[in-house]
Amino acid sequence: MHEVLEQLGKIGIVPVVVLEDAKDALPLAKALCDGGLPCAEITFRTGAAEESIRLLSREYPQMLVGAGTVLTTEQAERATAAGAKFLVSPGTNPQVVKYCVENHLLITPGCANPSDIEQALENGLDVVKFFPAELAGGLAMIQALAAPYVNVKFMPTGGIHPGNAGEYLKYERVLACGGSWMVKGDLIREGAFDKIRQLCREAVQIVKESRG
Ligand code: 3PG
Repeated sequence: MHEVLEQLGKIGIVPVVVLEDAKDALPLAKALCDGGLPCAEITFRTGAAEESIRLLSREYPQMLVGAGTVLTTEQAERATAAGAKFLVSPGTNPQVVKYCVENHLLITPGCANPSDIEQALENGLDVVKFFPAELAGGLAMIQALAAPYVNVKFMPTGGIHPGNAGEYLKYERVLACGGSWMVKGDLIREGAFDKIRQLCREAVQIVKESRG
């Protein structure tokens, strides 16, 4: 498995962030690192994403900073140029996946059914995002999908929260969970970085308790 994915697996929870303003990127990174989650999926849903990834990659080289909501090859290229170490997409876009694989960019495409997973396998990928996790069938669906695809690992995202993250993490075929609960937009807007650090610490505790 790719080293970055192994490291994400060890951390266990990947904060999914929507940054409206790149000025929040560095204080957010400090809160994440101090809170024990030195990683982030910065979603390409705002104009601030690219600059935020650039800042974080420069100032926090030890952090695993990736780009989320990567919908086009152009975004994949821009995110990588800004320093993203991994790319995440909500669905499986064959063009984006092919572009990433051909250019040796690490991508975890969103998969919600067997056909999506077979596309990932066809491209040599065996770690996929499972999205939207809770609505697409939750842990039971992951277990059903894991049965035929014996080498695939999942990163469930969408609807994960402190109350259900542990159950996902206990399952050995879940590499890590993605979630936004510790980095909600209002917390970032209010500059509540102490609260974010605290929520990260609690998330780390969930990883420890569920994986022993
Ligand atoms: C997303 O892409 O927005 C993620 O799935 C986050 O989902 P969540 O807000 O339910 O954690």
